[in-house]
Amino acid sequence: MCGIVGAVAQRDVAEILVEGLRRLEYRGYDSAGVAVLDNNNLQRVRRLGKVAELAEALTREPVSGGTGIAHTRWATHGEPSERNAHPHMSAEHIAVVHNGIIENHVSLKTALEAKGHAFSSDTDTEVIAHLVVEELKNASSLLHAVQNTVKQLKGAYGTVIIDKNDPERMIVARSGSPLVVGLGIGENFVASDQLALLPVTRRFIYLEEGDVAEITRRSVDIFNTLGEKIVREIHESSANYDAADKGPYRHFMLKETFEQPESVTSTLEGRLGEHTVLEETFGNGAATLFHQVQHVQIVACGTSYHAGMVARYWLETYAGISCNVEIASEFRYRKSFVQPNSLLVSISQSGETADTLAALRLAKDLGYLGSLTICNVAGSSLVRESDLAFMTRAGAEIGVASTKAFTTQLVGFAMLTLAIGKHHGLTLDKQKELTAALKSLPRKLEETLELAKSIEGLAEDFADKHHALFLGRGDQYPIAMEGALKLKEISYIHAEAYAAGELKHGPLALIDAEMPIIVVAPNNDLLEKLKSNVEEVRARGGQLYVFADAASQFKSDDTMKVIQIPDVHPWLAPIVYTLPLQLLSYYVAIIKGTDVDQPRNLAKSVTVE
Ligand code: AGP
Repeated sequence: MCGIVGAVAQRDVAEILVEGLRRLEYRGYDSAGVAVLDNNNLQRVRRLGKVAELAEALTREPVSGGTGIAHTRWATHGEPSERNAHPHMSAEHIAVVHNGIIENHVSLKTALEAKGHAFSSDTDTEVIAHLVVEELKNASSLLHAVQNTVKQLKGAYGTVIIDKNDPERMIVARSGSPLVVGLGIGENFVASDQLALLPVTRRFIYLEEGDVAEITRRSVDIFNTLGEKIVREIHESSANYDAADKGPYRHFMLKETFEQPESVTSTLEGRLGEHTVLEETFGNGAATLFHQVQHVQIVACGTSYHAGMVARYWLETYAGISCNVEIASEFRYRKSFVQPNSLLVSISQSGETADTLAALRLAKDLGYLGSLTICNVAGSSLVRESDLAFMTRAGAEIGVASTKAFTTQLVGFAMLTLAIGKHHGLTLDKQKELTAALKSLPRKLEETLELAKSIEGLAEDFADKHHALFLGRGDQYPIAMEGALKLKEISYIHAEAYAAGELKHGPLALIDAEMPIIVVAPNNDLLEKLKSNVEEVRARGGQLYVFADAASQFKSDDTMKVIQIPDVHPWLAPIVYTLPLQLLSYYVAIIKGTDVDQPRNLAKSVTVE
């Protein structure tokens, strides 16, 4: 949610910190701040609003120094305001940035106030700063004080602490919120996402749960929960430095929408044999596991959950294996029955979504055969904690609204369908047919994106609307849900999706001339059923927008606008039909003038529950 950057260097670090925050702003963006140490001088600048406001303040009030921490906030405790912005301080010498939620902050605050600490914010984070000051009274070093502090915290934290009285180091601690250490030459860094540090290094250490690390210019010492010094692997990142640039596009969302043919190509690359999928793609031992598996349980949130819903149709229809899909925040808090030989599949763009991660951790104790994650971020918690991982290779997705991450997740599921299916009776002929369809997918996506101009033309019709209804059937129902989510999250128009067969069980009452109804209608087995549902809407005066291929034979008239989508194998139609819905919500949001890449109240990576 929030973004963290820290640096210890010989050079001034303020620029590095602010550039890091810019790259993390997609994670949270209601306020931002930095604290920098220079010769025992602790300078703190915080601003309500975006990183640009902070950057401007720093041009007027420059700070200098080689040790610093910075933060961009997405409010959980305390309204967005300058006083609640991080870094938080105690005793004028400790400064702290934090990502996560300290669940026992109320009792800690009461105890700290009794000891004379005055709080200057409404955040849960501030307790960390005061606790460190308390612990420093007895500890031999800042490191020990932080180790003793984190033992008292309940909840989730990724935190970085600096001390004016000990300016050559920063102490970082991780539990439940990701932190990555960036290794430089004679300088070292930390961030909540490696993207923040790509301008300064390519070498990273991912901290594990419970790790506390002491970082100086020349050393990184990591300690586990027992306080033992440990060595963690160094990873060389090949992530694209330019990924955080918009290029010629007005918004990241538009850039990422248009990148889909390329991201799908990369996701497929080297993973398809002549007639089927290469199972090693999913990791060592995947083939054995897929042979044994008799049931798949999918857990995810938001858009990733919609990918899981499509996958259920595919796994049951093509791979001939039973599948359940559940929202991770529900799954994690209920007693569930585990079918024999079940595979737990988590899906996540970020790999850090708190509920999805908790669902995976819970599943480990429930007797699943194994776990697989479909994920876009290498080294993320879900990837590290799952038995198998399929990396989606979408590249960095910066827009809060998920686009290319979703379609590449679907590609991952399409490949999983083939991989499991071949152990469960999917014939060789069918494998060949589906593999060929997958190979032709990038071209189909390119053709679909050529419709952008005509979809932009539709957007005007939505700008003054307060509600919209999306309809689909079968594996297009989750696509209707995804279309509704996109429209509501970036244009703030209330949108709902229904399985079209459900219309007459309630939502039909909403239909009138003011209600736009968007229908995803490829020519498939359910088309005739869907056409009846469309007629139910038409008879009640609803304004229809139908996305369909030529074979579906819809015709535009006064009550219906038809947008013709290229023909595609019915299996992959959910992927192709996603694109026009993404474009529609984008162009509606443009007309409405909303903040497309950073819609209000949302954050890219939801690392708190
Ligand atoms: C959708 O556009 C959102 N970005 C959101 O629903 C997202 O899919 C959800 O928060 C899950 O995130 P994840 O894929 O990183 O786990």
